Amino acid sequence: MFPTKVKRLLQLRNTLWGCASLKAHCSRLVLGIETSCDDTGAAVMDETGKILGESLHSQKEVHLRTGGIIPTVAQQLHRENIERVVQEALERSHVAPSRLSAVATTVKPGLGLSLGIGLDFSRRFVRQHNKPFIPIHHMEAHALTVRMHLPVPFPFLVLLVSGGHSLLAVARGVDDFLLLGHSLDEAPGDTMDKVARRLSLIKHPQCSTLSGGQALELLAKDGDRSRFPFRTPMGQTYDCCFSFAGLRNQVNMAIMKKEAEEGIEQGTLLSCVKDIAAATQHTVACHLAKRTHRAIVFCKENGMLPSSNPILVLSGGVASNEYIRKTLSIITETTGLHLLCPPAKFCTDNGVMIAWNGVERLREGKGILPPNVDVCYEPKALLGVDMSAEVRAAAIRLPSVRIKIHN
Ligand code: KG4
Ligand code: ZN
Repeated sequence: MFPTKVKRLLQLRNTLWGCASLKAHCSRLVLGIETSCDDTGAAVMDETGKILGESLHSQKEVHLRTGGIIPTVAQQLHRENIERVVQEALERSHVAPSRLSAVATTVKPGLGLSLGIGLDFSRRFVRQHNKPFIPIHHMEAHALTVRMHLPVPFPFLVLLVSGGHSLLAVARGVDDFLLLGHSLDEAPGDTMDKVARRLSLIKHPQCSTLSGGQALELLAKDGDRSRFPFRTPMGQTYDCCFSFAGLRNQVNMAIMKKEAEEGIEQGTLLSCVKDIAAATQHTVACHLAKRTHRAIVFCKENGMLPSSNPILVLSGGVASNEYIRKTLSIITETTGLHLLCPPAKFCTDNGVMIAWNGVERLREGKGILPPNVDVCYEPKALLGVDMSAEVRAAAIRLPSVRIKIHN
């Protein structure tokens, strides 16, 4: 009799504990808010990484029409949409603000005017609802998005490529990064957007609603890259930094030459846009691949990655490019790394990745601030500890790797 009673009590206790922990678990909900560039995003996520509701307003079409992001226009569009986007994410998740455990918002890096809208809104929101605030580094969020779907352990190497950034880093923890290289001028997404604009791809029937990178990827599928043998940048610099401005110049010169040959004005579609798209995309991919290859060798030489199952994560808007993914996979296969990319939808900016970064920080109790603390946005912010000088000093020469991709 006694043992049965004890057993029942134990069962009851376990059930109660189970409920209590389940409740605690379920009650840890994070609202993520993103406004660092031209996407107004919000999402509600539980502590397991389940997306309960999300909303995203893209300004892409407006900026395509105006020929690039005008910061004051981006700011105004964020201002017009932030309230609705956050409201939608909350309604879709059936979560009242009172049930949130914290609000996580991008505060750096990005366009100051855009960051300011998300931050001002969040400041008011956390004060009104008395919620903790988690300031988020946009690039850290891109770097850790992959852990939302897969249990990727630290440390891992990450290549982040977007419209505003190009960087290689070792992710050692939620707030612990070593920066191996970064762009010295513009980012690959920016270069591809500018090339697409110079080619007037908005006038191309298949490309009118696509970002520059998406347009180049689409056209490149039927292009012959060998017609424009652009030089891969920084061939004589043995570090992991990037430069894309010189490539853009090479492409612009080639476009001008073709316009003269075909006797057409700037603003008219060239007959060889597909070949230029293929050559530009290939050169961007090769540049990313070479710097990443050097970063892998550097990490291996310095024991910075695990010897078993080392991982390269590729993320950011440009990481949705299949050609670039395939090129990077040649490097990971050659060097024995495993390549992981978040789904394309989560590579470009969104509120989900910010909510997830908030969850990661909440779990570890890192960077959680009371509602009334003053936080400022930072348009420029490095990712982690800058080790690019050490990488440069190592001057690693690479064996050549044949990059051949079939579309
Ligand atoms: O990460 P993201 O949404 O915003 C920034 O933080 O910059 O990236 C946007 C960038 C744009 O430059 C866009 O042209 C590029 O990502 N992009 C692509 C592709 N899709 C978006 N670049 C190359 N291929 C794509 N498929
Ligand atoms: Zn981004």
